[in-house]
Amino acid sequence: MTELPELPLTLVLNGKEVSATVDADATVVDVLREEFGVTGVRAGCRNGDCGTCTALVDGRSVKTCLQLPGRIHGADVQTLESIGTPDHPHPVQRAFLECYSFQCGFCLPGMTFAAITLLEHTPDPTDAQIRDALSGNLCRCTGYENFVRGVRRASRLMRETAG
Ligand code: FES
Ligand code: FES
Repeated sequence: MTELPELPLTLVLNGKEVSATVDADATVVDVLREEFGVTGVRAGCRNGDCGTCTALVDGRSVKTCLQLPGRIHGADVQTLESIGTPDHPHPVQRAFLECYSFQCGFCLPGMTFAAITLLEHTPDPTDAQIRDALSGNLCRCTGYENFVRGVRRASRLMRETAG
């Protein structure tokens, strides 16, 4: 029987250095969940379409179902676990709650990182820009309208805080 190739992997995951030897052919979403116990990335379509597996890799939003582990070796990886806390949610999380943006929450990794990334570069987006930014993420529970309202609200919250 052919041995599966293995890869020694080290990365900074949500601010902490972690290491493991992993199957070199595994997808990053599976490595993050199974090796490191991070459930803030979720395998939905495994095809790059839904966004539930989204994480930030060196500050860039990445669909981790499309990546092999070598992509995150030596990288700084942030998952939903690193964004806000129940007592101090990120403004995007607060706005999504206030606007009833989600129901089951399965789509939140992609929706949250899409909103944060948009507002970092475009603090006062138009509705068209919001829809465009969220468009790579599928939600099977909602009609998306409350996500758009949530991003609009987060934009206001963040601009108020900034000054
Ligand atoms: S699971 Fe990665 S985009 Fe759907
Ligand atoms: S709230 Fe359920 S998939 Fe979006």
